[in-house]
This record gives sequence, structure tokens and C-alpha cells, in this order.
Amino acid sequence: MLSKNRQTLFQSKGSRVTKISTARLDEMKVAGEKIVSLTAYDASFATVLDEAGVEVILVGDSLGMVLHGEDSTLKVTMEDMIYHTRQVAKGSERAMIIGDMPHKSYLDPEQALTNARRLIEEGGADVIKLERGDSSICEMIRNIVTHNIPVCAHLGLTPQSLEELGGYKVQGRDPAAAKQIKHDAIAVQESGATILVLECIPSALAANITAELQIPVIGIGAGVDCDGQVLVLYDILGISGRQPKLSKNFLEESSSIQDAVKLYVTAVKSGDFPAAEHQFS
Ligand code: KIV
Repeated sequence: MLSKNRQTLFQSKGSRVTKISTARLDEMKVAGEKIVSLTAYDASFATVLDEAGVEVILVGDSLGMVLHGEDSTLKVTMEDMIYHTRQVAKGSERAMIIGDMPHKSYLDPEQALTNARRLIEEGGADVIKLERGDSSICEMIRNIVTHNIPVCAHLGLTPQSLEELGGYKVQGRDPAAAKQIKHDAIAVQESGATILVLECIPSALAANITAELQIPVIGIGAGVDCDGQVLVLYDILGISGRQPKLSKNFLEESSSIQDAVKLYVTAVKSGDFPAAEHQFS
């Protein structure tokens, strides 16, 4: 059921579009068509992404860093996430919207379900995302999907566990760590996750997991063989004050924000992005 705001938006744009569903992403995986994702945190950018053909808009808790100026995602709250997800929902009509569950918003299954529901019902997200794949997270995923809320899991470099991981480092480089990430990837799929984000892991490991799983795998710093790619919007526009190896400033080669986003879409679809210099071994 569309919210009144979104119905109004659709009518004012005079178009009827088919919303990207999890089934559509599954079809794209099977067909080998790359899935394009970017973060957005407000209605204006959401519209730019939607019109450029981005299939998945992630309202990431990276907003704590790029909007709030924090040096991590740890201070982002549920209120922040609901507020920004709602703005994105108003600005987009076709893209699937994934809303991030912030740090400490899923400490037990009951709290996880309550907050997942809030992101869907108050924020307008289509799917919620949570980090890690240990047994307690898998229990939460099972509980959330039982209540008909689709879940995107997130493995590899999981920024909410920054202290445990020892900072922003590539994960899964040694055989034991690689085995654990693959084990967790299978576990989140078996628990009912419908999408997996893999962040900052060696490309060969990501390729192996992508081939093994039935659900679509969207990578960030995880190589070109994932089913799709996601980046932080402000990094591709060169306005985040950082230029991570895994990203690229697409605005440098474009004359507008709209063109930069379209260039990113084309580069992901063709397999030109990520190039070797954006990947880890
Ligand atoms: O918060 C975020 O933007 C994310 C992506 C970097 C995957 O989780």
C-alpha cells in the first residue's frame, strides 16, 4: 500500500513505474545483470538516483559520517534512520529502499523486530539491513522475516563492530577469517535474508560466496564478481572529504551530479566498475 505522499508524488510525475522487488533482484542475479545501488539520505538525491536507474537506494548509517560529521556510524539513532528513510521514500518511486538498523537498535530479537517494523512503517523502507551473521543475528533475521519484513544482511567489514575489528581494515584475508565469512553468508541466507552486502573483502572470496549463494550479493570493496555494487553517494561525488580505494569520484568525469550518477550506473552495469585499483586481494 503506497503512502498518501508517495501516491501524490507518483501522480505529480504523471507516471506509473514498477517498484524494484526482491524477486526482480533474484531475476537479475540469475540473468547476470548487475544490480546498481547507492546510498541516499534525502528526497532530492533519492530522485536523482531513481531517475538515473539505480535499483537499490540504501539509507545507510554512513549518514552519521557524511551528514553528521562523526568519525564512525556508532552514534546514529533509530530516530535519525526513520527521519532520513522517510525523506528518501518521498523522493523515489522505482528503487527498492533499504533502511539500515543503527548500532544498538537490535540487541535482542524483540527489540530488533520492533525497530525493523518502525523502519518499514514509519520510515517507508522496503527492506531493513543489519550487520554481522553470528547465531544471535541469525535468530533475529529468522524472527524478522517470519513477520514478513525482508532482510538484507551485511558481512565483512561491518562498521558497527569497528572496535572489535580493529578499525577500517580489509576482512577475510586469512583462511580462517575467510571461512568464517563464508559460513556466516550461508547462515544468513538459510535464516531468510534476501540480500547480502559484502564490504571490504578480497575479490576472490566475494566471487566464491556470490557463486555459492542463491540470494543477490551486493559488494562494496568486494570485487567485480558480486551481483551488484553499492557505494556511498558523497564519495562518488567527491564531497565526503575522503576518497576510499574502493570508491571513485565520478563527478570528476561529469558536468553534473545527475551525469555522475548515470556514469556510475553505466560503469557498474558494464562491469567497468570496480576496476582492479578499487579491489582488494
Ligand atoms: O551505511 C552504509 O552506507 C553502508 C554501506 C557502506 C554498505 O552500510
